[in-house]
Amino acid sequence: MRLDRYVSNALSTPRRATNKLIRAGRVQVNGLTVRDPMVHVVPSGDVVALDDEALRAPGHITLMMHKPMGCISATQSRSHATVLDHVPAALQHRKLAPIGRLDKDTTGLLLLTTDGGLNHYLAHPKHNVDKAYRATLKEALPADAEARFEAGLVLADGTNCLPASLERLGDEQVRVVLHEGRFHQVKRMLGALGGHVTALHRERIGDLELDPALAPGDARELNASEWASLARTLPKERLPSAWQPPEGYQPRDRRRRARRGESATKACQAAKTPER
Ligand code: URA
Repeated sequence: MRLDRYVSNALSTPRRATNKLIRAGRVQVNGLTVRDPMVHVVPSGDVVALDDEALRAPGHITLMMHKPMGCISATQSRSHATVLDHVPAALQHRKLAPIGRLDKDTTGLLLLTTDGGLNHYLAHPKHNVDKAYRATLKEALPADAEARFEAGLVLADGTNCLPASLERLGDEQVRVVLHEGRFHQVKRMLGALGGHVTALHRERIGDLELDPALAPGDARELNASEWASLARTLPKERLPSAWQPPEGYQPRDRRRRARRGESATKACQAAKTPER
């Protein structure tokens, strides 16, 4: 990796500012001052320092965004504002991409990452990461709406949806939890029941909830407790290598067993013993 890229990623500074630091002689590689931004460094072996303070080896970054109305979930567009326009200036040089898509008029939780593997994992329907949405409707839904969601709706074009959950929050507000992410899915599912969505907001992805302190249009890197929430959904290899579980943290399936008073060994034995 080029030295300017390493330093830029570690400090979250734009490449031009980084090059100034390097050319000014403030960056050391393995104890020696290097003034050439194009020198090659090995992140797993070389020690890169700024003013003799070792820098963290650059890695991927993942951001939580409160997506506002009016921008599209794409990395570039000639005609529309994109979610990347809301990434903080200091992180604009990172190659961030949104994980999945929210419609232009949908607000709420959107993750952006430089980690293609994480993006693929969270977006793929086979990994069954559930997503919760709050929808506002023009009119109340029919009495059998919950049962039809649970049974798996068939959309107007014949698409079969996986079973989903619907909770009424008021006459014209519902919470929908989906395990897949088809185009306009919430709007089309509610539409199949005669509902017209006037506002849609994503509240949660897996166990990760949108930080209520994040205003529409704001984005920031995930913190340790948010990684802990995601870790209940993700396999170990998809977590940042520097992430350490907080004290008392238990992965989700172990938490469930603990609540039921079972040990992991007992649960495995029970699964292997045929019912009589
Ligand atoms: N379902 C929709 O209809 N729109 C979204 O933006 C997300 C899910």
